[in-house]
Amino acid sequence: MARVAVCPGSFDPITYGHLDIITRAAKVFDELYIVVLNNSSKQPLFSVEERMDLINQVTKRIPNVKVDSFQGLLVDYADGVHAQAIIRGLRAVSDFEYEMQITSMNRVLDDKIETFFIMTNNQYSFLSSSIVKEVAKYGGKISELVPDEVEEALLKKFDDDKKNGNDLRC
Ligand code: PNS
Repeated sequence: MARVAVCPGSFDPITYGHLDIITRAAKVFDELYIVVLNNSSKQPLFSVEERMDLINQVTKRIPNVKVDSFQGLLVDYADGVHAQAIIRGLRAVSDFEYEMQITSMNRVLDDKIETFFIMTNNQYSFLSSSIVKEVAKYGGKISELVPDEVEEALLKKFDDDKKNGNDLRC
């Protein structure tokens, strides 16, 4: 039986921290679905399509990765692709409480799907999509935080905002 896992998230946008987790998870599972959860409670900078496009570009060399999006409960998505596992990255102790809450909730919803955590490499333990957006917004250097394709997309997004006279989003 194929070992199938789902790696869910907002990915707004994908960072080297995400890519580290994805690359390592893809070595352990036969198929890895990267799922952009269309979570209505967050105000994203990138559309779901833009986020999927960036993930596709930066994971194109990992053959067993598939990129998808979903609106609804993660366990329903996981069930639909016959995944046995959910993969989440853990950066620091501060992530733990939130991760414990969603893992416990997911287990109540479907106890057949197991959640596995991968510790982020130390070099990315401070990294988040929000921090990258904040730095990019004010013209800081992000080339060590995100792949080139993502850096370009961020610069373009904030440049377009400036040209259109919009408040810089984050
Ligand atoms: O990258 P994020 O924002 O930390 O990811 C959070 C995410 C998308 C994994 C979480 O919000 C989620 O699973 N949303 C889907 C809705 C759901 O299944 N909720 C029940 C478990 S809390």
